[in-house]
Amino acid sequence: MLRNIHSLQRVTLGRYTTAGSCGVFSVCKKTWYSTKPAFELGEKDTTINGNKFDKDEWTNVTPAILSKVNRQLHLQPKNPISIIRQLIESNFTDFKTFNEFSPVVSTRQNFDDLHIPVDHPSRTKSDNYYFNKETVLRAHTSAHQLQGLASGENKFLISGDVYRRDEIDASHYPVFHQIEGFFYLDNDLSKLSTELKRIQDIETPNIELVDDTVIKPENPVQACHSAEASDLIAAHLKHSINTMIRNLFADEKDLKVRWIDAYFPFTSPSWEVEILYKGEWLEVLGCGVVNQKIMNGAGLDNKIGWAFGMGLERLAMVLFGIPDIRLFWSQDQRFIDQFTPGKINKFVPFSKFPPCIKDISFWLPEGEWHENDFCELIRGEAGDLVENVQLIDDFKHPKTNKRSLCYRINYRSMDRNVTNEEINEIQEKVRQVVQDQFKVELR
Ligand code: DAH
Repeated sequence: MLRNIHSLQRVTLGRYTTAGSCGVFSVCKKTWYSTKPAFELGEKDTTINGNKFDKDEWTNVTPAILSKVNRQLHLQPKNPISIIRQLIESNFTDFKTFNEFSPVVSTRQNFDDLHIPVDHPSRTKSDNYYFNKETVLRAHTSAHQLQGLASGENKFLISGDVYRRDEIDASHYPVFHQIEGFFYLDNDLSKLSTELKRIQDIETPNIELVDDTVIKPENPVQACHSAEASDLIAAHLKHSINTMIRNLFADEKDLKVRWIDAYFPFTSPSWEVEILYKGEWLEVLGCGVVNQKIMNGAGLDNKIGWAFGMGLERLAMVLFGIPDIRLFWSQDQRFIDQFTPGKINKFVPFSKFPPCIKDISFWLPEGEWHENDFCELIRGEAGDLVENVQLIDDFKHPKTNKRSLCYRINYRSMDRNVTNEEINEIQEKVRQVVQDQFKVELR
């Protein structure tokens, strides 16, 4: 699997490389309460925040994931995710902000409105959390571009929690946060150049820029745009992004920012942006000139725009020095009390509790194996106690040709000691459910 924009936390929606199917979900009738009564998973339907969705063969939302929906870390003032969001917003002072769109969206909003092809692998059950064929937990904040446009604003930001099924380790979590930026203007060369000059006059970002992208057939100017207009709006995008990054990494003297070509169904040309941070290139965002079909669909035929989408966790992890993505979800005062709205300070680790490591090995049945489904199942049993899941052995029997896998599951709590008995119990359940759901033969 391509893990390009870790910022966006994993594969971007333009560049999924894996396809898959298979739905693993357990039927469970129980109501979970967080701060507000949130959801109920029934036999026939799922209720979330008062809305009911019939189940079908696409349903794969789990209690573990639904229990995160009302947490809204991006709105908790002392959470680093919210602090980063506000810092980004402070770079776009005249932009309207939308931070409270519901993460429960239609597949139309998440995919079709953005012209993501019907057979695009980013739509699979293995990669998303579906309530049913038509309703999904948003996989990106781009799902709200049309709502933003419908507001009549020509510049806006949208932030929120987004959901993708994935593997488990210190930097991957099935819920993360993104911020989306959108800007458009009259498609008029003189207006576009006046606006570009206006922002260039305010500030020249002091960064070392690596940008050798050129317009090419694989990443073209849209046929309906003139090269000049597309270049002007792209220059406006690049200047806006470079300035924002400069301000986010204010303490970094020698900031290197690299632009590379990318592909997204909702932009062309498209780019990704990387930052050289402590010797490592970090992918931080995807962006481009908005697909004109999106503009026209919103009745904005004579406008031209740019958009970007950026993950907040990776940025917060490097800027605050947070070593494990699960910490953002911690309700431990030793975590949350370390942060102050408006300020970036280094996280001081409190003692790490000891891990508990368990292996599981099994023979696979015939057919495909989707690691995401396996991880999802472990998450269902262990919740945030699972720190990472690693494939440590993959073996094919020379005579029978049967494949055997061994995974190492690392259990650890962020805020307390776990007992061996407690973990044994979880591990036993994991073994049972893996056997029942995937028809594997445990070893
Ligand atoms: N939605 C994309 C993702 O999550 C990121 C993105 C790319 C957003 C390009 C945009 C954009 O608005 O123009 O992978």
